[in-house]
Amino acid sequence: MTDDANKMWGGRFAAGPDAIMEAINASIGFDQRLARQDIEGSRAHAAMLATKGIITDNDASAIREGLLTVLSEIETGTFRFQTALEDIHMNVEARLTELIGEPAGRLHTARSRNDQVAVDFRLWVRDQCDAAHAAIVALQRALLGQAETGADWVMPGFTHLQTAQPVTWGHHMMAYVEMLGRDAGRFADARARMNESPLGAAALAGTSFPIDRDATAKALGFDRPMANSLDAVADRDFALEFLSAASITAMHLSRFAEELVIWSSAQFRFVTMSDRFSTGSSIMPQKKNPDAAELVRAKIGRILGATMGLFTVMKGLPLTYSKDMQEDKEQVFDAADSLMLALAAMEGMVRDMSADPDALRAAAASGFSTATDLADWLVREAGLPFREAHHVTGRLVAMAEAEGVDLPDLGLDQMKTAHQAITSGVFDVLGVDNSVRSRTSYGGTSPEQVRVQIARWKERLA
Ligand code: ARG
Repeated sequence: MTDDANKMWGGRFAAGPDAIMEAINASIGFDQRLARQDIEGSRAHAAMLATKGIITDNDASAIREGLLTVLSEIETGTFRFQTALEDIHMNVEARLTELIGEPAGRLHTARSRNDQVAVDFRLWVRDQCDAAHAAIVALQRALLGQAETGADWVMPGFTHLQTAQPVTWGHHMMAYVEMLGRDAGRFADARARMNESPLGAAALAGTSFPIDRDATAKALGFDRPMANSLDAVADRDFALEFLSAASITAMHLSRFAEELVIWSSAQFRFVTMSDRFSTGSSIMPQKKNPDAAELVRAKIGRILGATMGLFTVMKGLPLTYSKDMQEDKEQVFDAADSLMLALAAMEGMVRDMSADPDALRAAAASGFSTATDLADWLVREAGLPFREAHHVTGRLVAMAEAEGVDLPDLGLDQMKTAHQAITSGVFDVLGVDNSVRSRTSYGGTSPEQVRVQIARWKERLA
């Protein structure tokens, strides 16, 4: 072995790597983010080795003290990461060797970087599931605040972005609370499934040392050890599940962000975004741009890209570990950062924004939004089959459109030309307030139903 060969695995090597080899091979540039998890895993492993008599107590305590020193060096920024040492595992171990000497070399007994990296990354992703869950709940609370304020503010409900039926602001906010509730559930489910320990799978086949995998699993907060050593080192489902949950959440955030962009435009004026989450234009002095919402809308691109990226990395790999799998981390890191930022920005925007109940109401009243109420009235009060009621209402809408007025502006005589059975009672259902108040079916938009859902969620998130 020359001086150039790798100190960790260079025994059979006569020469060190080409510079390009080192560049493509090294992951320390990004996997240093796993430092804390790496040291946690090593501490659990060393303690177990001592308990089982595989290393001495003295060695174990030297290792423990040394690892704590390494951790504090990393946290205070004095640690010198070296590309020649490839990755976080070997950077930590090399420094440990400098600090404590020979016992450091015993730490890697009954372990491989294959199970080591699987442990580190799982611990990291597990933390991210918890963080995403908490950030989603914070956003839900902000939405609940908006929903409570405007539980009975009438606004247009849309399909095809065309005015459909009047709904309430509270109802619209609560739709996102529901979506985000499923998102939080996906992170919780993923976390529960990933919470098994790969440690002790060693390179791929397990080990002949009398290790205690239950003990290390428990020390690291895992529910149990993974039951198949090949699976343990080959599996990245946990990262894919995280990315999938993140993608769906980001898609929801993107839809909401799109609504905020539309709603804050001069043509809609449904909401005013706070200055804190807007920017100006360097040329047009009147502009206040919803940049935060636009960037939240865009984050799905990176997050979904990361998801596709990791699926593509994994799809053709034979069992068990292949170096391809080193490409699993950067995209997960980036997706997690993007998601957390998007959630925080959305929470801030929702807390700060103010909806304009008058603008919402005016928009709700236009666009023949109560046409369905009129058709329903014809069914209920005049006994028409719904299909015929739909047709009659359509004629009235055409009439109103031709005159450039809204449905309630048509006179009773005009109404009667569409169907004789229409009486003045019909005007009761043409107002937007009556329309939303009438939608009392479970999950419907009536303020009464909306308040039921707000109360349910407040209890659930308490
Ligand atoms: N840096 C590697 C990774 O991220 C660690 C595992 C290396 N294992 C190996 N057999 N070369 O995947």
